[in-house]
Amino acid sequence: MAMKAAMFEAPVGDDVFGEDPTVNALEEKIAQLFGMEAGIFCPSGTMTNQIAIRLHTRPQTEVICHQYSHIYLYEGGGIMSNSLASVKLLSGDLGKITAAQVAESINPDDVHAPETTLVSLENTMNKGGGSIYKLDEIKPIHDLCREKGIKLHLDGARLFNALVESGESPSEWGAHFDTISICLSKGLGCPVGSVLLGTKEAIKRAKKIRKVFGGGMRQAGILAAAGIYALDHHVERLKEDHAKAREIERMRPIRLEDLIGQAHLSSPNSFLFKAIKSGNVPSLILWGPPGVGKTTIANIIANEIKAPFYTLSAVSAGVKDIREVIDKAKFQMGVVLFIDEIHRFNKSQQDALLALWRKA
Ligand SMILES: Cc1ncc(COP(=O)(O)O)c(C=O)c1O
Repeated sequence: MAMKAAMFEAPVGDDVFGEDPTVNALEEKIAQLFGMEAGIFCPSGTMTNQIAIRLHTRPQTEVICHQYSHIYLYEGGGIMSNSLASVKLLSGDLGKITAAQVAESINPDDVHAPETTLVSLENTMNKGGGSIYKLDEIKPIHDLCREKGIKLHLDGARLFNALVESGESPSEWGAHFDTISICLSKGLGCPVGSVLLGTKEAIKRAKKIRKVFGGGMRQAGILAAAGIYALDHHVERLKEDHAKAREIERMRPIRLEDLIGQAHLSSPNSFLFKAIKSGNVPSLILWGPPGVGKTTIANIIANEIKAPFYTLSAVSAGVKDIREVIDKAKFQMGVVLFIDEIHRFNKSQQDALLALWRKA
């Protein structure tokens, strides 16, 4: 209700002409918070990201990002269609990439290769399970980009979630990026809105890009007021969300399928193999219905990652065997744990498996 009241009472003007006092106040407030020169209010996080990509690329240039980035997976091919740019996708633990990977991926100055002009990171990393970058992981990427003259963008749709968790300050983050996109409509609870932050010069150009993307809004202060309210009242409350999320995680009964469903092999997929090849799978459990080639695949995978291969079979495993195998699997890196005939596991075998998995 309080947010709605703030929206209702907001003074408004025409933001296409820069004359909406509430939009201006929101843009200034958030830019100041991050120690950045200017901001531009847009209808969505997709738009702020896509504007940033347009700002930092030209046709025939290339963006480096994680293969699970929102900008690549969920923005409708906008990198290509809005900016005519190419993209180089990196793999990496929990959706995160490192400076060493970026260094290897910057294209040489060669007529055959698109010029690398932008690295884009995401924090929190949505598809990485909400994983968080800390500043000490960002600094080397920032330094490398500076040295190479490459721009660094942050899709910070949920950046405040990361900051309340890490305790790092917005201004420290602002100092490490050329542009940051912050969403107001996610954990902060606004109905609409995202702000792109950058230099005055970049945001001036961003206004022209927003216009052609159809994102120029008129009396948008009514929406920006929600953003101001959220910055004043909802940032700290993200901690409550995190506590609740942890609570839900604890309460959720773990089903066997949850532990191992990720590697369900009724349709073996290339993602699994790619993940394994890049060494991103510390341990792996395979299960599936009969006749899909699990045993063969489990063996191939074990070979590929040169990992120990443990197998549990419902037909033969007693609780003691289960304990032994799970203990080994949990404490070793790069293990293929193959659970066979899972549908035949009786209740006590299942309980033993789950209890041991949870405990470890
Ligand atoms: C990481 C990330 N970036 C950008 C967006 C896009 O935001 P919007 O839905 O406002 O376009 C989302 C949406 O969920 C997201 O998760």
